[in-house]
Amino acid sequence: MVHFHVISVFPESLESYLASSLLKRATDSNLAKFSLYNVRDYTTDKHTKVDDRPYGGGPGMVLFAEPFIRAIEATGVSSDTPIIFFTPHGEAFSNEIAEELKTEGDVVLICGHYEGIDARIKEVFPMRDISIGNYVLTGGELPALVVIDAVVRRIPGVLGNESSLEETRIAGKEVYTRPECFEYGKKEYCVPEVLKSGNHKEIDEFRGK
Ligand code: ADE
Repeated sequence: MVHFHVISVFPESLESYLASSLLKRATDSNLAKFSLYNVRDYTTDKHTKVDDRPYGGGPGMVLFAEPFIRAIEATGVSSDTPIIFFTPHGEAFSNEIAEELKTEGDVVLICGHYEGIDARIKEVFPMRDISIGNYVLTGGELPALVVIDAVVRRIPGVLGNESSLEETRIAGKEVYTRPECFEYGKKEYCVPEVLKSGNHKEIDEFRGK
């Protein structure tokens, strides 16, 4: 079981995805667990302010370190738990990293926003900077979902059949199902004959195995 602790200013934005499909099944069978922490719950002022202008000037707003630090403390995880910080400047996320994370009991995911989080958060809690691609997103929530999905589908027992992992599946890149043929714009689109032949040697060849 991997327990993901997601710390965010907009935790509700993750809820529907975490409660659907494969991630729901993983939670129902106790193979994964998700705890969402709203940074505003860890502010101390009555306006639940989470950010302010950057020291030294510059665009945008910077998130306060302290509410994030208190939220990390609230997770109750041990000091050797990996803490991941999402940033486009981080190490490129990959199946290899997903494979590492699936063996962890707890994983803390920090979702930044705006122009970032006060850098002192990393002096208090060392973190691993992860990027999900060479583009800039508005926040770390989508990267958190990407990482969670990629990790959870690798936990043994989550996929009905282990061989459903793309790396090992035999279905090939192009897959077909019913109906055998359909019509669109006066043209007929049919499933390749070989896939209906029952000849597994030819089917494997067709699929490039
Ligand atoms: N935050 C903003 N853009 C990001 C990206 N590409 N990967 C991870 N975190 C991000």
